[in-house]
Parts: sequence; structure tokens; C-alpha cells
Amino acid sequence: MLGVFYSMIVVPGPASPNLAKRISQETGIKLAKVHYKTFPDGESYFRIEDDLKGEEVVVVQSCSPPQDKRLVELLLMVDACKDLGAERVIAVVPYFPYARQDKRFLPGEPISVNTVIKSIESAGADEVITFDIHEVHIMERFSVPAHNLTAMRLLAKHVKSLDLESPFVLAPDQGAMRLAKPFAEVLETDCDFFIKHRDRVTGEIETKEKELSVEGRDAILVDDIISTGGTMAKAAQILKKLGARRIVAACTHPILCGNALQRMRDAGIEEIIGTDSIEGPYSKVSLAPEVASFLSKVAE
Ligand code: R5P
Repeated sequence: MLGVFYSMIVVPGPASPNLAKRISQETGIKLAKVHYKTFPDGESYFRIEDDLKGEEVVVVQSCSPPQDKRLVELLLMVDACKDLGAERVIAVVPYFPYARQDKRFLPGEPISVNTVIKSIESAGADEVITFDIHEVHIMERFSVPAHNLTAMRLLAKHVKSLDLESPFVLAPDQGAMRLAKPFAEVLETDCDFFIKHRDRVTGEIETKEKELSVEGRDAILVDDIISTGGTMAKAAQILKKLGARRIVAACTHPILCGNALQRMRDAGIEEIIGTDSIEGPYSKVSLAPEVASFLSKVAE
């Protein structure tokens, strides 16, 4: 693969060192030598050792919690790469921050994702790659080419290797059906969804019960994000009531904040499978093959 990538370099961000390394290994693209630190007052520092003149630079930085810091680091990296002479900068931002605030839900709110898009573009990103963004229509708001890749095939392949009993795929809300469908296709099984309502002020979730033939079967709950774990937990409680055997939760972005893990375990979820969009103990599947295959098309 190296031939097509001869003028590319991967710059790892502090949030995504392992993903960046895997992309480099998968493609043969050189991995840049970088240094980052946080000053005592909290400000971020970044330095790159490599010469970027005329290079096509792939900056890899997920903007998972702490999102604001990760975003500033990303902006510093993109701006520095451009300023140091990069020909083009592709920003790989697996977890795109503030995507859940894609509209004004209540009067007076900002449309936060628009602010983030504008900042990344004005820092100098020529192209943006993200994964399973919360709402696909957000991609139309970019002025530069922007691509929403999916982790669903990779996650489903991993789940397929788990030897599950008559697996059944469930989207914990209607929006997640676009992810559950391709997931179920890989497993060659059926899928369905629950209806969920979230109170905009309290954040409380309500999931409607539904008749499903899951008795004695293993259920896989599929979503883009697991944040507080509330969505997954509510769905799992219903599945348990319906007699599901084992419950697995799979997602692209395992944020898992607060007591998400405990909440999900208490609801009967036995296994959590996420990707290296958020590097940690639940990033069991790497996004690198999807990024590599995308970059090979860009480089041709
Ligand atoms: C919302 O619609 C998303 O797709 C997820 O279902 C949601 O963000 C998960 O959040 P939590 O884990 O806090 O319920």
C-alpha cells in the first residue's frame, strides 16, 4: 500500500495515539514524532519534529471527554500543520464533539455543532473524516469535503466471532436503526427498535415496552454513543423482561461517563464492545481498517 501514500504523514493527537499508530501500521504511512503537554494553568502545548512541507497530513484526534480540551488540541495541531507548510490536512475526528446539539432544542441555545465545524475549518482542515456522527444531516453543514464513516461492519464482525445464541439486533431508539440494520446484515439476522423519549430538561429517559420474540436468544443492542448508559440500560431491562438470554451492548463511541458501567451491568448487560474512537478498556475494535481503506481511495 505504501506506494500511494508516499507523501502522507500521520500526526497522532493526544486523544488518539493508538488509533493513529494502527492507521500508520495498516497503511505504511509514516507516523510523525510529536510532543504534547499541558501547562500548569491548563493550556495545551504541541510540537511536531517532522518536516511537513508539501506533505499531505492526516491529523488523528478524537474529541471525546474532555471535549473542549481535545477540540483546542485538534485546532492547534491542524493550524500548526498548515502553518508549517502542509499541502493538505485531513482531520480524522472519530468522535465529533457537540454533535448532539445540532439544533436549538430550547429558545436561546447555541447550535453548538455548527460552532465546532466552523472552528475546525477555519483552523485549516481541508477534509474531515468522522464516524457514526449523531445525525447524518450534520455532514451537509461542512464547507470542506466531510465524510461520515461507519464502525458497524467492524463491530458486527467482532460480535459474530463471539458465538452467540440465535442473535437478535436491537436499536435502543429509532435513530439507531440506521446503525442496527447494517449490523444485523453482517450477522445475517433480524433487527428491531424501541421508542425512546428523553426529557430535554431533566435528561430522564423513558423507553416504551414492546413485544419482541427474543426469549432464549442473545440480544445485541447497537448505538452510536454510550454516554451515561441510560439508553442502553432501559432497553436491556425490557429485553430481560422478555426473556433474552445474554445481552451485549455495542457502540462506536464508548464514552461511559459517571456510573454508566454499573447502570448497564445492573440492567443485565454482560458485555460492552466499543471502538478506539475512545481509547480505553472497551475499545475492543479498531477503526483503523476503515480509515486506511478511505485514505487509499483519497491517495489514488
Ligand atoms: C441519542 O439519541 C444517542 O444515539 C444515544 O442513544 C445517546 O446519546 C446515549 O446516551 P446515554 O448513554 O446517556 O443514554
